[in-house]
Amino acid sequence: MRERSQRPSAAIVLAAGKGTRMKSKKPKVAHDILGKPLVRWVVDAAAEAGVDPIVCVVGHQREQVEALLPASVTAVEQKALAGTADAVASAKEALGGFEGSVVVLSGDCPLIHPETIAELIAVRERAQAACTVLTMEPPDPFGYGRIVRAADGQVERIVEQKDATLEEAALTECNAGFYCFDAQALFAALDQVDANNAQGELYLTDTIGIFRAQGARVEAVVADAALECLGVNSRVQLAEATAAMAARIARRHMDNGVSMMDPTSVWIGPDVRIERDVELLPNVMLLGETVVGEDSVIGPNTRLIDTQVGRGCTVEETVAREAVLEDGATAGPRAYLRPGAHLCEGAKAGTHVEIKKSTVGPRSKVPHLSYIGDATIGADVNVGAGSITCNYDGQKKHPTVIGDGAFIGSDTMMVAPVTIGENAVIAAGSCITRDVAADALGVARARQTEIDDWARKHRATTRD
Ligand code: UD1
Ligand code: CA
Repeated sequence: MRERSQRPSAAIVLAAGKGTRMKSKKPKVAHDILGKPLVRWVVDAAAEAGVDPIVCVVGHQREQVEALLPASVTAVEQKALAGTADAVASAKEALGGFEGSVVVLSGDCPLIHPETIAELIAVRERAQAACTVLTMEPPDPFGYGRIVRAADGQVERIVEQKDATLEEAALTECNAGFYCFDAQALFAALDQVDANNAQGELYLTDTIGIFRAQGARVEAVVADAALECLGVNSRVQLAEATAAMAARIARRHMDNGVSMMDPTSVWIGPDVRIERDVELLPNVMLLGETVVGEDSVIGPNTRLIDTQVGRGCTVEETVAREAVLEDGATAGPRAYLRPGAHLCEGAKAGTHVEIKKSTVGPRSKVPHLSYIGDATIGADVNVGAGSITCNYDGQKKHPTVIGDGAFIGSDTMMVAPVTIGENAVIAAGSCITRDVAADALGVARARQTEIDDWARKHRATTRD
């Protein structure tokens, strides 16, 4: 059973490093997992664990990292990247004499659970230890600091890979890079850390040996799975972390009553809400503040960003951003709903239909091959195949209004600004440039002519 402390605790998130192996012009911790930057995953996990204040140590491209932090987090600059002990020391002033538990978290480990952070704190406080260290048994320990245990099970010291003897390098328990310290003990020990090691860096891990030499306790908390501690140093690890996070989020929704034919092909952002009995078909991305109501079926091949889907909707092969679908609305296959697209109850945006900044009224249908922009369509309207709003004159956008019950024949151009009255009928193939009154027929196309026998004569003249 996980424990949780009642006392206030602080966090220091380390995010100053370069991330050279990402081969990116962006700082490493600014890379996204399911729409959220790495450093935000860590900061949010700390906040969810009840930790406050949170200080983030930034350095390399610090403006870009600072811009990703919530207002509640204080950013401090580490001037020279002299090692993890130096990084933690640069947060001292910002913590302003804070007493009690201080957790230190790596800004590049997005999979850390809030419960694990809470446990590091609770175990330290219960054991009255100077420090608790999260440890793990990764499939390949190469590169990690090794945990040297004392006979009584306490952590005696941590040896970095590059400083390890053959015997130490053979140890399989590794430092995950997450700790909880007693604040006073931490900052006192940091003063004693030197750079007398293979990398010439100030190692935070050296504080463990310093505590033990003082006779203080250092406890280990063993991670349930090494995956939780996966650090992102390369694009391959970014993909691994993304897959792991997507699987974790998918599992949570399945546990809440959401069906997925293939959860490995479903990517759901952390802030998405999905009601029960929703069915997600393969290749679905739900991102941002997207909401999906009960009994809706989404996919296959669908991406919804910041989109609200009501109950009992069908959304098939659709891309939508900042769109709203009320209960029973349907989209696709192959609909493109752009910001401000609003399908009212039971409305339909069908095949190869693009809708922008427009309301489609209750039960109204735009079933095939249409572009609807800056339009207000009333209830029970049918917009025939291939009809479009000509909303742009090259300089400005203009509105189209279609009244309740109107019938727009196929291939109608509605040259905005224009209003089509209630229950009006527009003849197929019309180019409507003037308003059409309620209950009227609007016809705007060349009159058909017929020339008797023309085709037969034409055939005769072209025959060899
Ligand atoms: C560190 C640990 C190692 C552990 C591993 C787990 C030390 C000395 N070693 O090694 O025992 O197994 O994490 O992943 O701490 N950073 C700064 N400023 C600096 C240096 C680093 O902010 O001057 C930040 C980095 O951006 C990163 C974190 O600290 O987020 C860890 O630093 P890194 O150099 O990656 O340490 P490791 O060699 O991985
Ligand atoms: Ca690292």
